[in-house]
Amino acid sequence: MQNAQNAAAATELTLQVIPSGKGCGAEVTGVDLAALDQATVATLKQAVLDHLVVVVRGQPITDLQLIALGKTFGELEPPGTSVIGKPYIDEFPDILVISNVMEQGIPKGNLGSGEAIWHTDMSYREKPCTIAILHALEIPPAGGNTYFANQYMAYEALPDELKKKLEGLVVIHDETYNSAGQLRKGFREITDPREAPGARHRIFRTHPLTGRKALYLGRRRNACIVGLPLEESERLLDQLGAHACRPEFVWHNEWKIGDTLIWDNRCLIHRRDSFDASQRRMMHRVQIRGEATQ
Ligand code: OGA
Ligand code: MN
Repeated sequence: MQNAQNAAAATELTLQVIPSGKGCGAEVTGVDLAALDQATVATLKQAVLDHLVVVVRGQPITDLQLIALGKTFGELEPPGTSVIGKPYIDEFPDILVISNVMEQGIPKGNLGSGEAIWHTDMSYREKPCTIAILHALEIPPAGGNTYFANQYMAYEALPDELKKKLEGLVVIHDETYNSAGQLRKGFREITDPREAPGARHRIFRTHPLTGRKALYLGRRRNACIVGLPLEESERLLDQLGAHACRPEFVWHNEWKIGDTLIWDNRCLIHRRDSFDASQRRMMHRVQIRGEATQ
């Protein structure tokens, strides 16, 4: 028994990348995110390229340590427009709070307690963030889990005919609503997706570091393929949306306090389950400045 316990403790201390066995995802063990060294940073970066999303568990890091972790991946990018129209933490405007907690009627974070539909982050900008890091401070007893779908696999699994048809086509990525369906401050309701404000990106993008092609859809709501009749665009986007999250592309994290997830926003989509609105969920998040899609 003693030996088994020692062995378990030793395993946790060793820097190891353990693939989830699913369509993406790995756990990295033997990491102290509060005391990063070069070998750990290199391992994390490679693991993110190889597995697209990694989880490091049991990390009681501070906001400053979250920011320091983010900066090892590149320059931080301030979050998009929050539902309150200003940063949630005055001292750390680079941190986005994801939470359903309200104080005196004012949200303490984005996304509430409802489902956040499949999406990729910040794709309504010309240069969407490359990496996002989400750290769990408070977690409800059930629900609120986060799912990731591998979009290299989604691209590769498309029938050749459809690949040919879609190659070079461009999608409008609406900025009006966030993935929880909340209207962003300063935006008005949109009824015709062709008029949606937001960036345009090719439907297939090439990851600058891996050279691999990925399907790049963004949010379904108000999305639109440029140059196609609206009905055809709607039909194709529904079909592609269903394809992109096929179970064999997906891994999900069942959150525990102290979990830190790092994901590559260039080749994944993600969604979040709803949870009981009377329970608290509190996450702090940073993201890394992006590049033009190619
Ligand atoms: C995000 C996001 C979902 C979650 O941070 O970009 O979509 O699990 N979060 O809170
Ligand atoms: Mn997101």
